[in-house]
Amino acid sequence: MGRSFVEMPVRQRCQFLFDEGSVTELLGCEAQLTSPWLPKQGIVSQSDDGAIVMLGKIDGQRAVVLGIEGGFQGGAIGEVSGAKMAAALDLALQDNQRGVKTQVVIVLETGGVRLQEANLGLAAIADIHSAIIGLNDYVPVVGIVAGAVGCFGGMSIAAGLCSKLIVTREARLGLNGPAVIEQEAGIAEYDASDRPFIWGITGGEQRYRSNLVDHLVEDDANVIKQQLVETLQSGKPPTTRSEQIDHYLSILNQVDTSVQATPTQVCSDLAGGEADE
Ligand code: COA
Repeated sequence: MGRSFVEMPVRQRCQFLFDEGSVTELLGCEAQLTSPWLPKQGIVSQSDDGAIVMLGKIDGQRAVVLGIEGGFQGGAIGEVSGAKMAAALDLALQDNQRGVKTQVVIVLETGGVRLQEANLGLAAIADIHSAIIGLNDYVPVVGIVAGAVGCFGGMSIAAGLCSKLIVTREARLGLNGPAVIEQEAGIAEYDASDRPFIWGITGGEQRYRSNLVDHLVEDDANVIKQQLVETLQSGKPPTTRSEQIDHYLSILNQVDTSVQATPTQVCSDLAGGEADE
């Protein structure tokens, strides 16, 4: 077993994905772009607002890597972190549009919209979605969800819009977070502390077997980097998941919501696959 990717802080994760010596961080901690809203609510802000933007080369090709720090506010996206990400994606789109090929990677570890910044976070996430859809015409947009927070809320939609997704077994991916489902539907319906159940429904392996992500890899930084390089080399897919609306709607229409879904049933509904390991 090599070096754990999950245990790396996000800045280190992003840096690791680039060719050595090729990377520059944009709007890093020295830019002091902090949330104006968190201190008003008695919460200490962070000088990068939990979002990392890096530009450099991956496998010799120009690439932008965006990262979200799961350790700060559960990786939830606020006005500033969201604007940083949306602007970086938009610049990458403009580069591709003027013929400067720029690949895009998003390292996702996030509880979605930052509840303390509500609509401002939502607006930024909408800009992120829109830029990813634009980029899908030019380059593969690769999302990586390694763990431990996972990827939820509006940013799970961003993950769904990525042309390719790489996950580990430690990852979780779902629209509503377990804490929110438990709060809204009650603990009898969904127990957020029942880890085998949560991972059985939203875990990386389950999402891979359900065909909702493309690659399941072990938590080894070198393995993840190698998978990323291969995924970027394979170019943009002929169709993205987000273009297969009829396919997914027909599956959704078969779901019986009167009974609790089980991991096995979710897999058989969405058709299985074998792990690449
Ligand atoms: N906004 C603000 N803070 C958030 C957040 C969000 N959307 N999501 C998580 N956090 C915070 C938690 O409040 C917690 O803060 P604390 O350490 O100060 O208590 C921290 O992130 C870690 O979350 P926690 O729930 O303790 O960790 P976990 O690993 O058990 O679960 C999640 C992580 C993301 C699965 C869980 O927090 C969750 O379900 N969040 C809601 C996700 C969601 O449905 N978002 C919809 C908004 S679009």
